[in-house]
Amino acid sequence: MNVSFAAPVDAPDMAAVHAQAFDKPWDETDFEDLLDGEGIFGVVARDPGPAGVLICRAVAGEAEVLTVGVATTSRRRGIARALMEMAISRARSMQALEMFLEVDVASSGAVALYTGLGFVQTGLRRGYYDRGAAGLADALVMRLDLTKPPN
Ligand SMILES: CC(C)(COP(=O)(O)OP(=O)(O)OC[C@H]1O[C@@H](n2cnc3c(N)ncnc32)[C@H](O)[C@@H]1OP(=O)(O)O)[C@@H](O)C(=O)NCCC(=O)NCCS
Repeated sequence: MNVSFAAPVDAPDMAAVHAQAFDKPWDETDFEDLLDGEGIFGVVARDPGPAGVLICRAVAGEAEVLTVGVATTSRRRGIARALMEMAISRARSMQALEMFLEVDVASSGAVALYTGLGFVQTGLRRGYYDRGAAGLADALVMRLDLTKPPN
């Protein structure tokens, strides 16, 4: 597995992975635009084909993970953890003091991933995700204190 910071040229691979991980995936142009944004960086994993994607924004001492997804055939091999560890390290180097993310309360695997990295729940957003016919789903807000040593 190879994990590296993303450049705009990686946008097609990022979109391909995102399409496997989410019902409403972001396309190539979305990723190109995002990577151009202030304080935003991406991380991609290849195994050897496109396997994982993460986008994070770190501005004014605060980092937010905007998305993280792993291709269906590449799961439970530590790819998401590797993406997150790289993002945490980069956010620290960008002087971020804390990192936030939202996660569907029903995504027990993702919650376990973040808890294992040291994130703790700090809030609940009711009806945050629109799941179409399945209705609205609540999101947990999770926070990692970046001033403490890594887990
Ligand atoms: C959630 C997701 C990113 C995890 O990716 P992954 O590469 O399979 O995760 P990892 O292999 O790095 O798992 C790290 C740890 O997270 C936990 N974990 C991850 N997936 C899990 C699952 N399906 N069930 C239970 N625990 C899980 C485990 O503790 C795991 O450690 P272990 O394998 O040593 O037990 C992936 O399943 C995915 O893309 N899901 C769809 C999109 C999504 O839900 N993204 C997160 C939204 S915030």
